[in-house]
Amino acid sequence: MIKVVAPSNIALIKYWGKASKDLKLAKNSSLSISLNNLNTTTIITKADKDIFILNDRIEDFNKIKDFVALFRKNPENKILVNSKNNFPTAAGLASSASGYAALGMALKEYFKLNLSLKELSILVRKGSGSACRSLFSNFAVWKHSLHDRNSFVFKLNKDLNLQAMIMLCSQKEKQQSSRSMMELCLRKSRSYPSFLRHARTNLKPLIQAIKTNNFKKIASISINNMRLMHNCIHDLNFTYLNKDSYRVIRTMHKLTYKYPVFYTIDAGSNIVCIAPKSYFLKMKKELLKLNIKYLQSDMGKGPYVIN
Ligand code: PMV
Repeated sequence: MIKVVAPSNIALIKYWGKASKDLKLAKNSSLSISLNNLNTTTIITKADKDIFILNDRIEDFNKIKDFVALFRKNPENKILVNSKNNFPTAAGLASSASGYAALGMALKEYFKLNLSLKELSILVRKGSGSACRSLFSNFAVWKHSLHDRNSFVFKLNKDLNLQAMIMLCSQKEKQQSSRSMMELCLRKSRSYPSFLRHARTNLKPLIQAIKTNNFKKIASISINNMRLMHNCIHDLNFTYLNKDSYRVIRTMHKLTYKYPVFYTIDAGSNIVCIAPKSYFLKMKKELLKLNIKYLQSDMGKGPYVIN
């Protein structure tokens, strides 16, 4: 039996658009940090037939069959995969990232494959793009390349002691998956070239800002990148944001004048509000006034195997 816990992650420069659908190659490099307390636990055990259980419900094994085949040389070695998220699934909180990272790592351990984390990131990327970043602690950079072997993740060894409050503006499954929405944006959104330009030209400055602990710069690049991604979605007359999302955004805007804080939003209504640990309680106090459900998370820890 193998048991692995992997964190979700939140991108500061987003992956939004594929250069290859089959290989899940991205149009741009992306950079994220893990949300330790939002995680997937995956257990793999030997079985008589292939079974996949997600959040205590039996799912169609075909959903993960191709991914499992990347790790399993002999399909006669049947497995039971039991995965559980400790946070809302498919609600814009990257449950596919923690899910595929945990599954990939568990498969590697279960089949005793001699893979480096870099090699594992190339395989995990094929499950869900953003999942490859969940294999790493601290800041993870998923490198853009048009070649399978060169599109891997490396980490920035810098711990900025950040903490996040994740405002659960909606816990429902989203109407539009990020997969289909990013494809539409790539083909139809007139803001897409601006997003791509921003993502490509700001990766290096963001890495530099992280290395030098320049919080202001980290915040401004992250907010602009998130806005440009959501502009692409708004171009298609769609939005993931709801009334509560806008209430959180207004509060965070006010707070940015007083404290070093910022927020970012993936393809969903929920908002990840980030502050250095020393300012976290000040941010939390204001956000609590909104009376919206939330999760709290430390940032930066990677996945681990439980023996
Ligand atoms: O990995 P996917 O297919 O779930 O896409 C993730 C896209 C975003 O979460 C919106 C951005 C990102 O880089 O995580």
